[in-house]
Amino acid sequence: MIENNSIENLKSRLDIVDVVGSYLELRKNGANFKAVCPFHNDSNPSLVISPSKQIYHCFSCGAGGDAIKFVMEYEKLNYPETIEKLANMYNFSLSYTDETNQREDRKLMDNLTLFFRKKLDAQQIAKNYLVDRGIGQATIEKFEIGFAPSSDETLNFLRSHGYTLSEAKEFGVADMSEKNNKAYCRFIDRIMFPIRSRNGKFVGFGGRTITNHPAKYINSPQTKYFNKSRLLYGYFFAKDSIFKQKKIIITEGYMDTIMLHQAGFTNAVATLGTALTNDHLPLITKMEPEVILAYDGDDAGIAAALKASMLLSRHSFKGGVILFGEGLDPADMVKNGEVQKLNHLFGEAQPFEEFAIERIVKKYNLHDGLEKQKALKEGMEYLQSLPATLQESYRGILSGALNIPQNLVKIKRDIHTRQKRENFVDMLELTIIKTILSKPSLIDTLLDTIDASMFKTHTQEFGLLLENQLEHPKLREIMLWEDIKTYDENELFSAMITFLIKFYSEKLSLVKSDKTLNYKEKQFHIRSFQEKIFKLKRGELVAYEQ
Ligand code: UTP
Ligand code: MN
Repeated sequence: MIENNSIENLKSRLDIVDVVGSYLELRKNGANFKAVCPFHNDSNPSLVISPSKQIYHCFSCGAGGDAIKFVMEYEKLNYPETIEKLANMYNFSLSYTDETNQREDRKLMDNLTLFFRKKLDAQQIAKNYLVDRGIGQATIEKFEIGFAPSSDETLNFLRSHGYTLSEAKEFGVADMSEKNNKAYCRFIDRIMFPIRSRNGKFVGFGGRTITNHPAKYINSPQTKYFNKSRLLYGYFFAKDSIFKQKKIIITEGYMDTIMLHQAGFTNAVATLGTALTNDHLPLITKMEPEVILAYDGDDAGIAAALKASMLLSRHSFKGGVILFGEGLDPADMVKNGEVQKLNHLFGEAQPFEEFAIERIVKKYNLHDGLEKQKALKEGMEYLQSLPATLQESYRGILSGALNIPQNLVKIKRDIHTRQKRENFVDMLELTIIKTILSKPSLIDTLLDTIDASMFKTHTQEFGLLLENQLEHPKLREIMLWEDIKTYDENELFSAMITFLIKFYSEKLSLVKSDKTLNYKEKQFHIRSFQEKIFKLKRGELVAYEQ
């Protein structure tokens, strides 16, 4: 079992913004952050993450809790698994009460990286290959480029260092063959590119064949340490430059990234043989960089650049696309000494929105009326998906690309969920609740004067507050809802007076028109309410009576 104080220690180091931010793209929003909620199907940023309260809450589906809860729900792990996952993410070593369970850091990946590095030094053909590609010694050392020998040699190395097959499997470097039930190493006769996590841990490998194996590159499979759709190759080395320059260059390959770094473009990264998706955005969003997509000019590259441009523009990233033509990618250009030209190209990227519109339109034959209609439809759908402020500015570009009048490009606006909710909201009630939530001691001044039943719209929430159910989603929502202010003690007092005057005035008019009461009863109630209102108007709180 994991020791309790070890868990507490880990907890105290967790920051909700960092944890949630490693899964979702966060946008600053006042004192809080916002994101699209992963727990229900949505495209609005309904999830609010509060650094000061260290909780998250979804205003749409009600999901919420602390950092640990988030990871549990997101990764579908149980509590100890989540703790181990977080400890691993933050390089924190947990202590276990039961010795046999103790998970010492075995450093398999570090040792294997070193092993491959040494193998490279001893392998002339592999070294020649790298020289051929223009990769210098300093680059080899920075990226710890290595060479994977035969399967047996690697397995022997692992075995002789006391690693079991299941450990090697856990990291995705070896597996058991289904054909003959024998262990094998995934990488054979390949130049090895170790892949580091965003914090610099070795979590996977990419291997390029130097023997013309039909699989040019083989990458580590998904493991619990390695998720290729959330990582970018080279990110660990690039993050400082990205942060300083507010610019990131995203390429399609290991070679491009390595060579760009060699040429001084130290803000270059690569996707790991996957498309750029939502999952990558958390890694870069917080640095708010301009993004340059440096992709191949072939069909696959263009399609990938279109998808990525749409994604990035939807998420308000600035930047653009450069397509490299005729078999010349950034790596080749660096090798050929065309650094100046590269520098120039990076300054001339085509903005995402323009690129996307142009490429959407190019998919259709505009001489055919029906096809043109489809192009318009797809173009409008794209515009609609952009932030509202951008939609207007790009209508002209779409109509221009289609050669049609701009008024044919129509953009529908949808009502924001917040507006739909407004009918069910009473700000005075909410402000009172939020004030007490933030300063629980104030409840004492109110207990005599107020009752949940006096709340017309937020009865349930006030009830929860009185029952001290502070973890309840409804109360979390009020805590994090920025449109609701909190009062200081004096403001709370005047708000209470206003609230009570309104309450008793309504009671008063109800009693006056109540036909079930006899004259005496009516007289009694009217007098009592009038008296209360009179006191309230003088600034005195009045006790609540059933
Ligand atoms: P490319 O085929 O464009 O490779 O694949 P490259 O970067 O130009 O490599 P060199 O210059 O031929 O050595 C781009 C990326 O796609 C993934 C790899 O991540 C590669 O870097 N890929 C490619 C694979 O995963 N498997 C493959 O078989 C090929
Ligand atoms: Mn290439």
